[in-house]
This record gives sequence, structure tokens and C-alpha cells, in this order.
Amino acid sequence: MDARSLKIEAARAALAHVKDGMRLGIGTGSTAEEFIRLLGERVASGLTVIGVPTSERTAESCRRFGIPLTTLDETPELDLTIDGADEFDPELNLIKGGGGALLREKIVAAASKSMIVIADESKAVDALGRFPLPIEVNQFGLGATELAVRRVAEALGLEGTIALRRRGDAPFVTDGGHFILDASFGRIPDPSALSGRLFCVPGVVEHGLFLKLARIAIVAGADGVKTIHA
Ligand code: A5P
Repeated sequence: MDARSLKIEAARAALAHVKDGMRLGIGTGSTAEEFIRLLGERVASGLTVIGVPTSERTAESCRRFGIPLTTLDETPELDLTIDGADEFDPELNLIKGGGGALLREKIVAAASKSMIVIADESKAVDALGRFPLPIEVNQFGLGATELAVRRVAEALGLEGTIALRRRGDAPFVTDGGHFILDASFGRIPDPSALSGRLFCVPGVVEHGLFLKLARIAIVAGADGVKTIHA
């Protein structure tokens, strides 16, 4: 089965967790896009849900597929968030932000009673860090923030490159108006320590370590779809 088919299978299985009347957080990325399309079909045939999108891209897709939207100002508590991930470990700690939506993704996930990750099996890792960690930073003071991030990493024994994410010739700018540093540290033995230290750097707005937020992952692979509980 090709990668897209696996994403569709994971997204389809997640639909079983969506009940009438739910307030949903709706993720960003290619797997989430498949979920949005399938959810749109269910809405067209009578399912009543309301969703908070985790990015402008997702908001646009939801509108295209007829999914009613709300905001966290109108609806500050959600029942369920369904989102993709760039990688997940056996405890369902995640790296997210490959699509640049990590800040809204984390706010929405944290506002939800539960979060389900949908992914193909290529996203499974023994320990986080194979995928470069996205770190969303304020545009002001970029050089100083990058240096501080490097020092934080070194204090934890992590080394590697830190690259400003670009789109064409210009830096990539998030929906919130920030830049992203992609930190290739390799294996992260203590994600919780790294998370805590990164939040002590003033220019860091958010980072892509999603720790203890997802309790269920629906993972599609060559042997079918598996549900993993944290
Ligand atoms: C978006 O910022 C990311 O967190 C995505 O959820 C993540 O990159 C997974 O995307 P794919 O489903 O496209 O792999």
C-alpha cells in the first residue's frame, strides 16, 4: 500500500471516534487533510460536529469540505483533537511542526479532553529526534535566540545543526507571524528536560515536543491499522 493509502486508512479509522455533537480540534498536514475530506463526507450525510482548525490551511480545507468551524474563544473546551505527527515514541510523545502549525496545534490539543494521532507506521521511533525538532521563535532577536537554544541543547549533551526554515528565498513565517528553527539534535534521551529548558529561552514561542498530550495513536501499516494506547 502506498503512503497516501496508509494515511487514508488511519484517518478512516479515527472517524470511528467522532460522535455526533462533538467539538473537534482539527489537525494540519497531509494525514489530517485525508481526515478532513472523510469528515466532510460524514458531515454531508448528517453528522453534526463543530471544529477548531489548527492552521489557516486547515481552515481553508474545512470550509471546502463543508465542516462548520468555531474558535477557542467561542468554544474554549474541545472533546477531541485528531492530528498527524512527524514522529511518535512508544509512550506517544510526539514531534510535530513539520508543517509549521505547531503553536496552534499545541494550543488546540491542550484545550481538548483527548487527542488522537493518526499516522502511517513510518512515523514510529524508539526515541524522538530522528525528525528535526521545530522550534517556533519570535522574529526579534533571532540570532540571540538561536544561540541560547544551542546552549540549552549543549547543556543536555545534544549537538547538531539548527537551521532557519525557509520558503524559497525568504524565511518561513508561521500563521502566528513567527520564524521556525529546525534543530537536528538526533536522539533526544530526555524530551521533558529539553522541553522545560527551551521554554526558559525568552524568544522561544513554542516547540514541537508534544509530551503526554496524545493518549491514542491510530497507525496504518503493511499489516493493517493498529490502535496504540499510551
Ligand atoms: C503540522 O505542523 C505538523 O505537525 C503535522 O501534523 C505533521 O507534520 C504531520 O504531517 P503529515 O501528516 O503531512 O506527515
